[in-house]
Amino acid sequence: MKLKEWLAPFVYLASNWISLIGVVLVTTASVLWLFLLPTSFSGHGGDPYIGILQFMALPGVFFAGLGLIPAGIWLFKKRNRNMLPAVFPPLDFDNARFRRLLAFLGATTAANVIIGGTLIYKAVTYMESVSFCGQTCHVVMKPEFTAYQNSPHSRVECVSCHIGPGANWFVKSKISGSWQVISVTLNLYPRPIPTPIENLRPARETCEVCHWPQKYGGDRIRVFNNFSDDEQTKRTQSVLLMHIGGGNGYEGIHGAHMGPGVQVRYAHTDKQRQKIPWVAYTGRDGRTFVFKADGYKDDGPGQLDVRTMDCMDCHNRPSHTYELPERALNRAMADGQMDLSLPYVRKVALETIKQEYKTTEESEREIPARFSAYYQKNYPQVYAGRRDAVERSARAVLGVYAKNVFPEMRVTWGAYPNNLGHTDFDGCFRCHDERPSAQGGRTIPSDCETCHKTLAQEEESPKILAELGLEHHK
Ligand code: HEC
Ligand code: HEC
Ligand code: HEC
Ligand code: HEC
Ligand code: HEC
Repeated sequence: MKLKEWLAPFVYLASNWISLIGVVLVTTASVLWLFLLPTSFSGHGGDPYIGILQFMALPGVFFAGLGLIPAGIWLFKKRNRNMLPAVFPPLDFDNARFRRLLAFLGATTAANVIIGGTLIYKAVTYMESVSFCGQTCHVVMKPEFTAYQNSPHSRVECVSCHIGPGANWFVKSKISGSWQVISVTLNLYPRPIPTPIENLRPARETCEVCHWPQKYGGDRIRVFNNFSDDEQTKRTQSVLLMHIGGGNGYEGIHGAHMGPGVQVRYAHTDKQRQKIPWVAYTGRDGRTFVFKADGYKDDGPGQLDVRTMDCMDCHNRPSHTYELPERALNRAMADGQMDLSLPYVRKVALETIKQEYKTTEESEREIPARFSAYYQKNYPQVYAGRRDAVERSARAVLGVYAKNVFPEMRVTWGAYPNNLGHTDFDGCFRCHDERPSAQGGRTIPSDCETCHKTLAQEEESPKILAELGLEHHK
C-alpha cells in the first residue's frame, strides 16, 4: 500500500506526452536488448557492427528515454503549477485513467518491439555479410576489400579472421567495431589504416580453425617468374623447394617456430614490427637462447614491446596481399594479361604505374593514356598495326595499379610490408641475419639452404621444370 501511495503522484505527473514517450523508449530498448543478449553468449561469429546496436544504440535509446521521463514531469509541473490535485488518483484497476495508461504503454511497447525486432533482424543478417564489411565503408575498406578479392582467402568471410569463434572475442570486437564505425562516420580514421592491428585475435585461434598444424607439412615447389625490361621481354624463372615442414614435429619453417613447446619472442622498435633487435628462442627442451642484433646493448628487451611469434608474424598479408610494382607486373605478365611482344612493355608499364596519381579517377584516365601514348609516339607502326594489343595491355597495367594503390586512402606501393620472404621486404631476414646467441654456439641462420633449396635461380628455361614436366608452368 505504501509503495502505491508513494507512486501515485509520480504516475499522475508522468502521464504527459513527453514522459510517456520516455517510458515507451525505456521499455522497448530493454526488451530488445534482452532479445539480443543471447547472441553475445552463443559464441557464434557474428559481426562487430551488431555491437553498435547492442552496446551503443539501444543503451542510447534507453538513457534518452530515462531522461525524457523527469524532463516531462518537470515541464508538466511547471505548466500546471496551480492545478495539481491535492490527492492523486489511486493506482488500482478501478481507476479508468490508470487502466488506459497501462494499456497504452503495453500496446505501444509491443508494437515497437515488433517493428524494432524486425529491423534489427534485417540489419544483423545484412551486417554479417562480406559485402557489408567490404563495401559499406567503401572508400575506407577499398584497399583491403580489393586485395582480399585477389587472395586465396577470397571465399573466407572477413569475420573468420577478424573475430573467429567464441563469446569473449565477439564482445571485444563488437566494442572496438563500434568505435571503428563512429570514427568512419566522423572522418576520424587514419589513412592508410595502420597495421598491424592492435588486439587482433591471436592467429592460432583463428587460422587454425581451417589450417591445423598436423596438416601443413613437407616440402613444396614454388615457381617465381621474372620478366626483363629490355626491348624484347625475356622471362626467367626461379624454382624453390620450400621446406614448409610442421606437422606435429620440428621440421622446416613451421616446425622451427611453431613446433610443440617451441616459442619465439621478439622485441621491435617500430610499430610495424620491421626492426627486431632482440629475439628469445625457447626450444623443445625448454632451454632459452637470446639473440641480439649488431649494436643492441641490453640483455633483455628493455622498454621495447615484446611479442610472441605466431602465424601473423610471417603471414601478415594472408588476405590483403599488396605487391610491389615489379612483382605485381610479373604476375600480370605471367597470367598473359599483357602482350609481351610489345617493345619495352615492362619498362613502359613500370614507369607508368610508379608515377604519382592524386585520385583513382586520375589514374583511370592517365595510366591507359600514358601507356598508349608511348607507343603512339615511339612506335607509330606498332601502334597503328596492333592497337588492340596496346589497349589490352594498357588496361592490364591499370589493373595492376588499381589492385595495389589507393590514393584516397594513401595506400601507395609498399605501404603494407609483406613478411613472407626476403626479396621485397626484410621479412625473414628481420631475424635471420646470422646474429649470434648471447650464450654462443648458435646463430639465427641466413644460409641460402636453410629455408628452401634453390633448384633454379633466374634461369630462362630451368632444367628442373623440364624434368618435372612443368616447363609450361606459369
Ligand atoms: C585470412 C584471414 C583474413 C581475412 C579473410 C580478412 N582479413 Fe583483414 N587482416 C588479416 C590480417 C592477418 C591483417 C593484418 C594483421 C597485422 O598485420 O597485424 C588484416 C588487416 C586488416 C585491416 C587493417 C589494414 C591492413 O591492411 O593491415 C583491415 C582494415 C582489414 N583487415 C579488413 C578486412 C576486411 C574488410 C575483410 C573482408 C573483406 C578482411 N579484412 C578479411 C586477415 C584477414
Ligand atoms: C574459414 C577458413 C580459413 C581461415 C579462418 C583461414 N584460412 Fe587460410 N586458407 C583457406 C582456404 C580455403 C585457402 C585456399 C586453399 C587453396 O586455394 O588451395 C587458404 C589458403 C591459405 C594459404 C596458402 C596460400 C597460397 O598461396 O596457396 C595460407 C598461407 C593461409 N591460408 C594462411 C592463413 C592464415 C595465416 C590464416 C589466419 C590469419 C588463415 N589462413 C585463416 C581457409 C582459411
Ligand atoms: C616463420 C614464419 C612462419 C610462421 C610462424 C607460419 N608460417 Fe605458414 N608458411 C610460411 C612459409 C615461408 C610458407 C611457404 C610460402 C611459400 O610457399 O611461398 C608457409 C606456408 C603455409 C601454408 C601453405 C602450405 C602449403 O602446403 O602450401 C599454410 C596453410 C600456412 N603456412 C599456415 C600457417 C599457419 C596456420 C600458421 C600458424 C599456426 C603458420 N603458417 C605459421 C612461414 C610461416
Ligand atoms: C622474430 C624472429 C624470426 C623471424 C621473423 C623468422 N625467424 Fe626463423 N628462426 C628464428 C629463430 C630464433 C630460430 C631458431 C634458431 C636456432 O635454432 O638457434 C629460427 C629458425 C628457423 C629455421 C630452422 C633453422 C635450422 O637450421 O634449424 C627455419 C627454416 C626458419 N627459421 C625459417 C624462417 C622463415 C622462412 C622466416 C620468414 C618467413 C623466418 N624464419 C622468420 C627467428 C625468426
Ligand atoms: C630464413 C629463411 C630464408 C633464407 C635464409 C633464405 N631465403 Fe630465400 N626465400 C625465403 C622465402 C620464405 C621465400 C618465398 C617468399 C614468397 O613466398 O613469396 C624466398 C624466396 C626466395 C627467392 C625467390 C624470390 C623472388 O621473388 O623471385 C629467391 C631467388 C631466394 N629466396 C633466394 C635466396 C638466397 C640466394 C638466399 C641466401 C642468401 C636465401 N634465399 C635465403 C626464405 C629464405
